[in-house]
Order: sequence, then structure tokens, then C-alpha cells
Amino acid sequence: MRRTLAIVNQKGGVGKTTVTLGLASAAAAVGRRVLVVDLDPQAATSWVLGIDPDPSARTIADVLDTKRRDLDGIICRSSWSEHIDVLPSTSRLQQLEAGPSKRLRKALATVEDDYEAVFVDCPPSLGNLTRSALTASRHALLVVEPSALGLRGIGGIADVIDDVWDATNPDLELAGVVLNRVPAVSREAERRTDELARIVGREAIWSPAVPQRVVFNQAVGERRSIHSYGSRAPDPIVVFDALWRRVRGVIQAAGR
Ligand SMILES: Nc1ncnc2c1ncn2[C@@H]1O[C@H](COP(=O)(O)OP(=O)(O)OP(=O)(O)O)[C@@H](O)[C@H]1O
Ligand SMILES: [Mg+2]
Repeated sequence: MRRTLAIVNQKGGVGKTTVTLGLASAAAAVGRRVLVVDLDPQAATSWVLGIDPDPSARTIADVLDTKRRDLDGIICRSSWSEHIDVLPSTSRLQQLEAGPSKRLRKALATVEDDYEAVFVDCPPSLGNLTRSALTASRHALLVVEPSALGLRGIGGIADVIDDVWDATNPDLELAGVVLNRVPAVSREAERRTDELARIVGREAIWSPAVPQRVVFNQAVGERRSIHSYGSRAPDPIVVFDALWRRVRGVIQAAGR
């Protein structure tokens, strides 16, 4: 069964990594095994999940670089939980921006069944790394900030999803849009959400939205999951528990 989701947006800093980590945290909290694939050469996701760069280790770049499909010795256990594995990134991915695109799909196909979900955290670009991720995925999950700047470029992502669907992955579907950094009360955010709904369809926008909370930032600095903050992060936890259930529903519906 295909269980891979690409978390995408070419805009930097919108919350792709926050959403990837929040979903992994929620999955682990209910004992579900997930794999986080860090496809961003900045390797922030790998670091937050407790993976320190080891220059001698094989990495995801070796998968994209060669025809080897086997991920043994590349997948690591996250320091957060025995339920979270990581396919770590490396700065060398940068040089592979122009590389071929079906290798990740073939490699992930060998391990997908070991997990409830595989999340591919994409870099802020619509280049070949993001295309590789979309080629490898059953679903794309868009992360958007409901602001004027946050909505810019949405059409470009839709075009790339269409392109990949056409060229390499006819199974690819947009699972939905996760709204991030949503203030409690903001007419501007509401207006931008309406605008987004006109582009992607109201039903494509997932609820609940992810609120703006300092604990997300703190969790990155402390390399911790939001669930580890317990009562200090009540609403982020409730939100990501709900979003995880939504992800599960989407994966199961697609597998039927
Ligand atoms: N809802 C939120 N509330 C508060 N801070 C947030 C929220 N979402 C993200 N952040 C913070 O904003 C910064 C950027 O978020 P994040 O790294 O998730 O974005 P990204 O889309 O993955 O960025 P990049 O494109 O560089 O990979 C991080 O420091 C993160 O902690
Ligand atoms: Mg990121």
C-alpha cells in the first residue's frame, strides 16, 4: 500500500518542517510507526529528530545518486521515539538538485509497508528534489500561511503537482492544505483563507489549522517533540492529533 506524503511549498519558512514533525510526534504518541524523509539539504529536520551529521555515513544522497535501492544502514532511529525512523539529509543533496527523479520512489517502495505513513519534508523549491518527492508520493500535503505573501506562488505548486501527475506519477493526489501560523482572530487571515478556498476548493483546506505558538520554535531549539511538552503545549497537541487522524484517513481511503 502506498503511504507516502510529500509536505510541500516552494516558499521558505511556512511550516513544512513543523507540520512534518508535528505529524510524526502525533503518530508516535499513539504508537504508530512512521518514517520521516528529510529531503532538504539544510537537514534541519534530521537534526531536530536527534540525528547528528556523520560525514562517513551513507545518506539519502547516495540513494538519489546511484541505482542502489536498499535503505539498510541509511535509515536511523530518531531520538524522540522508537516509533519514528529518519532518512537523514545531507548538504550534498544540494548538488543533486538536477538529478533523476524516480530513485526515491523505488527506494521508498522497499520500506513503505513497514510504516503507517512516510512523510517527505521537502525543501523550499519546486526543483527536482520536490519533484522526486512528489514522484515518490501517493499524496501531496501543502502547507500554507494565510497571508498575502503566503498565497503567492500557490498556482506554481499546483502546476508542478499536475506536471508530475502527468509525467511520472498518475496516482498523485493533493491530500489537502494545512494552514499554519493562524492567529486566533484575524480578518486578514480569514480573507486569505477564503481566497485560498477559491483556488483549491473549500474542502481541500484541512481543519483544524495550526495556531501560532512559541512552543513550536522552542521544540526545534530543544530538539524535542511537541507531545513531550504535555500540558505546556495543549492546543498544538490537540491540533496535530487531529491532523494525524486525517492523514490516516486519507491513506486508508486511498488503499481501499
Ligand atoms: N505555528 C507556528 N507557530 C510558531 N512558530 C512556528 C510555527 N510554524 C513554524 N514556526 C517556526 O517558524 C520557523 C520556520 O518553520 P519551518 O522550519 O517549519 O518552515 P519550513 O517551511 O520547513 O521552512 P524551510 O522552507 O526553510 O524548510 C521555525 O523556526 C518554526 O519553529
Ligand atoms: Mg523545512
